[in-house]
Amino acid sequence: MESANNTQAQNMRRYYKWHAAVYDATRWTFLFGRKTLLHHLPTGAGQFVVEVGCGTGHNLRLMARRHPDWRFAGIDVSPDMLAQASKATATFSRRVQLFGQPYGAGAFHLPEAPDVILFSYALTMFNPGWEAAIEQAWQDLKPGGHIAVVDFHDTPAPTFRWWMEQNHVRMDGHLLPVLEAKFRPVWRDVHSAWGGIWRYMSFVGQK
Ligand SMILES: C[S@@+](CC[C@H](N)C(=O)[O-])C[C@H]1O[C@@H](n2cnc3c(N)ncnc32)[C@H](O)[C@@H]1O
Repeated sequence: MESANNTQAQNMRRYYKWHAAVYDATRWTFLFGRKTLLHHLPTGAGQFVVEVGCGTGHNLRLMARRHPDWRFAGIDVSPDMLAQASKATATFSRRVQLFGQPYGAGAFHLPEAPDVILFSYALTMFNPGWEAAIEQAWQDLKPGGHIAVVDFHDTPAPTFRWWMEQNHVRMDGHLLPVLEAKFRPVWRDVHSAWGGIWRYMSFVGQK
């Protein structure tokens, strides 16, 4: 499993080496539901929020702007994506820490237990490793803390599923049942995209 995890991390670093520079300019056309999920986060004062697979810092910047009393950590395995995140969150650098690490079973020790762990279009790329990452999030969260997830759900189109696999994304409706079994559901939603070519899911659950 160790070497499979290393291969996954290597694949991500290689893939995002070329995609990091065009990521924000292109992904808004299909990574739906990210802003909506941020509106469903619990709104306690002074929260510590961790985004796993934070990519270019798109969500971290939005959250830091909206919640001046929250602190953040972003974790990502791709140095090229983190370089973008560092620029995107530079204004908030006092409150946003970035870590270049893979996330999974015991792989990384957070500076403190988070109130919220966010996975935004990350878990469907943890192949293998998505179950271990969910389990690790459960262990890392404070008692009563929340997990928030937005990601691809499924597709009725085999060609589209194949194409997404070529882009390291698994689209088998596999995340929601595990999340719902592990966390107390607070909010969940499944939406159709691009006239039904695929569906995406959102979930907020409490430990
Ligand atoms: C599709 S991007 C999502 C970026 C951002 N969360 C967003 O919503 O735009 C997936 C990110 O997950 C990161 N990632 C993939 N596997 C990872 C792992 N095992 N540990 C940490 N980050 C990982 C990738 O490097 C990439 O930046």
